[in-house]
Amino acid sequence: MKLVLIGCPGAGKGTQAKVLSEHFGLAHISTGDLLREQVKSGTPLGLKLKAIMESGGLVSDEIVSELLSMRIAQPDCKNGYILDGYPRNVSQAEGLGAIVGELDKVVLIEVPDKAIIERMSGRRSCPACGAMYHLKNNPPKTEGKCDKCGAELVARADDNEETVKHRLEVFHSQTAPVIDYYDKKGLVLKIDGTKGINAISEELIKILEKL
Ligand code: AP5
Repeated sequence: MKLVLIGCPGAGKGTQAKVLSEHFGLAHISTGDLLREQVKSGTPLGLKLKAIMESGGLVSDEIVSELLSMRIAQPDCKNGYILDGYPRNVSQAEGLGAIVGELDKVVLIEVPDKAIIERMSGRRSCPACGAMYHLKNNPPKTEGKCDKCGAELVARADDNEETVKHRLEVFHSQTAPVIDYYDKKGLVLKIDGTKGINAISEELIKILEKL
């Protein structure tokens, strides 16, 4: 199965992609995570990416598409994958078709902008294993520590209010046309992203199991 998860920043793409990848045995490919790995490496390219990501803008199609192609070629993608954060503009969507062919579904997680700012300020993630938390909606068992590996949880540099507002603008201007692009192909499945995390996972699993 080849799935794309689309939604504004903080819609819950990463949270649901983790659940679905475990349930269906699919690789979870987050272009944001692939880029953050480059940033961590501290190379000149990593430093350039850091500045773009902290501003809330999009990284160039060439860089992201190359990272994606390399990731999709890994053996764990043989049985399918979930793309989280890609494509983010129509040019990436067209490029994706050329790389992977037809998709099975494009899941659109819908959340109004006003709910997003609060979500982002409460997000914490584990720098060691990638687990995701929210101070209010999905807190770790021990404050500040990852349930899975015990590492100290961190807030993302691009989760401050000003950058989140810019990321939302970029979503509406550049990524929203991708939804129309896939809608015309009859691939879009709309999900209410304001429901609880578990309710959304259950709904998605029920629908996707029938594909
Ligand atoms: P990326 O890492 O992809 O960020 P994003 O798309 O802005 O999405 P987020 O990861 O912030 O949110 P999410 O939807 O995954 O939500 P999450 O599950 O974490 O990209 C970062 C940057 O990289 C971009 O700005 C860009 O610069 C660059 N980039 C990435 N891909 C690119 C591309 N293709 N082209 C060019 N540049 C690219 O949930 C958020 C919080 O809410 C968590 O705390 C979670 O616990 C909580 N939560 C989740 N679901 C719910 C719920 N139902 N109810 C309540 N709380 C919830």
